[in-house]
Amino acid sequence: IEARLSDGPLKGKRIVVTSGPTHEPIDPVRYIANRSSGAQGTAIARALASLGAQVVFVTGPADVPPPEGVEVVRVQSARDMRAAVLAALPADAAVMAAAVADWRVASESKSKIKKTKGALPVLEFEENPDILAEVSQMVHGRPGLVVGFAAETDDVIAHATAKRARKGCDWIVANDVSPETGIMGGTENAVHLISDAGSEDWPRMGKQAVADRLADRIAAALS
Ligand code: CTP
Ligand code: CA
Repeated sequence: IEARLSDGPLKGKRIVVTSGPTHEPIDPVRYIANRSSGAQGTAIARALASLGAQVVFVTGPADVPPPEGVEVVRVQSARDMRAAVLAALPADAAVMAAAVADWRVASESKSKIKKTKGALPVLEFEENPDILAEVSQMVHGRPGLVVGFAAETDDVIAHATAKRARKGCDWIVANDVSPETGIMGGTENAVHLISDAGSEDWPRMGKQAVADRLADRIAAALS
């Protein structure tokens, strides 16, 4: 709470931020997940709080600790994350930085699956709810600004622009996670901000600097 500026430009604004991976259980000891340290989402929540926002930080099991001065809601699966996000609404803005697993294992085993010679397990999957698309397409109580992320390879801006249209969010923060960029798992990020005005290319900078710049843009958009 000390980190929250009492009179910053986001004073009185409630913002939901998702961060980290989700874990989709296979059995009591195994899960599937996306790679995500939670660093970028954590930096965004910190930046928004430092501008005075009331932040609800919905986080999967991340490597980095949550920031000071936010309300932390810890979740495991995509379905838990969806429920926590919906429970945190209404909000003035939502920033979905989580690396949500696209699929969950269809029938989670309550018992540990044992290794049996000559027999490999076969996992069936079901699609997880798309939290960003659902919040973006809310008819009642949609946050005024919905921001998604897109970690892409190849034609990053084309993929992210199509993703923005498909999901119905206002902005997409897109980055190139091809191995040769060294972005994935690193401390820096090079992003493109995709909006109805097109694509803005930001220089490569630290993740906190990306977050601070994004928070300034969110403050301007909500004012
Ligand atoms: N997202 C979400 N719920 C999901 C999947 C994704 O809220 N089930 C959000 C992410 O937090 C991110 C954005 O949607 O803000 C884009 O995620 P991404 O995985 O890039 O999009 P997908 O539609 O899953 O497309 P892809 O096939 O590229 O994984
Ligand atoms: Ca995905």
